[in-house]
Amino acid sequence: MFVYLDNSSTTKPYPSVVRAVTRAMEADFGNPSSLHRMGLEAEQLIKEARSILARSLGASPKEIFFTSGGTESDNTALFGVWESRKRQGKRILTGSVEHPAVLRACEKLEKMGAEVIYLPVTTQGILDMEAFQEALNEDTILVSLMHVNNETGAVMPIGEVMRILKQRRIPAVFHTDAVQSYGKLDLDVRSCPVDMISLSGHKIHGPKGIGALYVRDGLVSQPFLYGGGQESGFRSGTENVPGIAGFAQAVREQWSEPETRIARITQVKDYLLKQLTETITDLSFHTPADSAPSVLNIGFVGCKGEVLLHMLEQSDIFVSTGSACSSKKSGSHVLAAMGLSKSQIEGAIRFSFSEDNDINQMDYVVEVIRKAVTSQRRLRKAFAKE
Ligand SMILES: Cc1ncc(COP(=O)(O)O)c(C=O)c1O
Repeated sequence: MFVYLDNSSTTKPYPSVVRAVTRAMEADFGNPSSLHRMGLEAEQLIKEARSILARSLGASPKEIFFTSGGTESDNTALFGVWESRKRQGKRILTGSVEHPAVLRACEKLEKMGAEVIYLPVTTQGILDMEAFQEALNEDTILVSLMHVNNETGAVMPIGEVMRILKQRRIPAVFHTDAVQSYGKLDLDVRSCPVDMISLSGHKIHGPKGIGALYVRDGLVSQPFLYGGGQESGFRSGTENVPGIAGFAQAVREQWSEPETRIARITQVKDYLLKQLTETITDLSFHTPADSAPSVLNIGFVGCKGEVLLHMLEQSDIFVSTGSACSSKKSGSHVLAAMGLSKSQIEGAIRFSFSEDNDINQMDYVVEVIRKAVTSQRRLRKAFAKE
């Protein structure tokens, strides 16, 4: 049985996405900036896609800018706001469990003169609101907090953060990296008026190398890329028309029956959690109860996550030890920020789900993991005795 449980790293494109990408490459290959019919047709594809993304966020099409992915969207938001506001203040607030696309950009901003505060999280991996209240001051120009954490599925209280910004009348820009929540949790800018939102195509069964940044109408932010003036001058470079067409098709699919899809994912995740809890001892749970439906992070105490990952791979089960971007480095900065011990972090596995998963697959997964964990723990005990 083939079981793909690494959907927070990337998802399998929907067949309709593959068709949309192929069509855009075979038929609509004109440059959207060309004045002839071929150009206009490609431009029309982009226009439609922009409307589809805008509708999914309750936004206006002119507030959507296509980028090369979540990483570029995050960098554009952070560097763009810094460039346009650095004379008004130097403070930037972000979370210690953010994706490297935000953390590494913040480190660069520190070198450029910003005062970045990396806010702590609770043992549940959720933003520490007291620390946020304390760090927020008149000098704050930007708050960048992810909506859902990619390693644990923890949902950050972005509504509460916005309420506090308003209550304390701090005119900081509020950016959220919604790469892991898009299509899974509601995010509508009419009810939750954030200023900037980062999105990525390949996390919602769309193509890789395509993303978008929502920028609230009227917000002044500098471009990150300069050149031919595409995307209303905010993001130069010939548009990735096949990627954009595929991204929009993925959004169409995700928004067609969202409740059914989410209910299915939630059921599979809850089932796996229950079965693992009943079958295997000494687990540590790193995903809070009211998390996003897509992620379950569990530590198998006395095991090495990486060894487990490869044992599961031999049975065609694909999981992750953390985020794909940090998995090649040592440890998880997210689990460390939650105060977990070295052995809990070492034994962590992230299961991340999509609608392609079902209960039968989970029965198979539990059986394979049970055997893998038992054999690893036995081996470790034997070595420890020697
Ligand atoms: C929370 C988060 N932000 C940003 C990114 C980067 O997105 P992309 O791979 O599209 O550059 C990821 C990818 O794992 C992510 O999980």
